Amino acid sequence: MARADSVTDPRASSSSLSERLFATRSLSLDLAAPLSDADATVQPFPDASPAKWHLAHTTWFFETFVLRDHVPHYRAYDDRFAYLFNSYYEAEGERHARPRRGMLTRPSLDEVREWRARVDEALDRAIPTLPDTALDLIELGINHEQQHQELFLADILATFAENPLEPAYAKLPPATCFSTEPLTFHEGRNGIVEIGAPGEGFAFDNERPRHRTFLHPHAMANRRVTNGEWREFIADGGYRTPTLWLSEGWDWVQREGVAAPLYWRDEGTEFTLGGRREIDKAAPVAHVSYYEADAFARWSGARLPIEAEWEDFAASADPNIGNQLDAAGAVVPRPGGGVFGDTWEWTASAYLAYPGFAPAEGAVGEYNGKFMCGQFVLKGASCATPRGHSRASYRNFFPPAARWQFTGLRLAKDA
Ligand SMILES: [Fe+2]
Repeated sequence: MARADSVTDPRASSSSLSERLFATRSLSLDLAAPLSDADATVQPFPDASPAKWHLAHTTWFFETFVLRDHVPHYRAYDDRFAYLFNSYYEAEGERHARPRRGMLTRPSLDEVREWRARVDEALDRAIPTLPDTALDLIELGINHEQQHQELFLADILATFAENPLEPAYAKLPPATCFSTEPLTFHEGRNGIVEIGAPGEGFAFDNERPRHRTFLHPHAMANRRVTNGEWREFIADGGYRTPTLWLSEGWDWVQREGVAAPLYWRDEGTEFTLGGRREIDKAAPVAHVSYYEADAFARWSGARLPIEAEWEDFAASADPNIGNQLDAAGAVVPRPGGGVFGDTWEWTASAYLAYPGFAPAEGAVGEYNGKFMCGQFVLKGASCATPRGHSRASYRNFFPPAARWQFTGLRLAKDA
């Protein structure tokens, strides 16, 4: 989370902060450009949000925590919007029920765009005079909006997947790599290592403090599990073999009738942001739950890495390299990627506080800490993660049954 200690000289860097702020705000609008008001209003299921809601909620975040709290005499664009677009901040009062976000046909997409423009103008005027604490909240707001850009793409994929017309969000660029490296395992470090974000630079509160932890002898796979390998798991009866599954996972498979990754269709095709296409066997598998990732690992004679193994493995990799989001458009996991990008990777680690964890001060203290129950950590970045957003210490988290995000896996083994 954006604490004041993350910026050595906020005043000197306020112009680059401003550039990054407005580049981020523009990307959100670009992401919405191909959508009709109806496309942007649908909520495909309770955990996913309408595209319009993402555009509005990220605006509410800046209007509330920066403009209302730090700009004297600021008047909200519409006082009623706080009720509609507060996500989960108890300190900010009552809010519209999450599963009913898709009922909001008003404000229109155009009115949300107008609100965004007004808030952006107010931010632009305010930045030169804002105190450091408010500049830190802008940094947090940028990172928050980037998270919602990824959610936006995953949620619009879920929205279009509901439509038998199978609309494409945009055209997928042609593939540039068609092969996969052979799967190999490489021994990681063992003994005492340090994980977590260092004191300087932006990081969310849940990545801190950096601390020591112990790694047992282990090995990490050189790449993620592919669609081709997942087809072998299916052909071998993976989804019909209860001994491969956690008890809760097996209940989930039975109850939900799960037999393949979320967007796989019959005849070897999958639904993507570019519409339906043939499954790319060499690409990393995506849209699998923690339960599926765990069962696949057991079937492979391996296991999922724990968070510290993954983070130590990735510590020297450049998080800005790989298949990540650079501009608005359709994205899909591709063959041949590096450590970051394509898909998030499930770990076997519960999402819990690090020793000495302290939530950020103020209302934004609700950002991460209160979700530390019943979820697993995912590491890395996906094809829908805005480039520059992730790092080795980053802790994404979802409940074990979630699979509408770009979620995949890398195997690990005891050595
Ligand atoms: Fe949010």
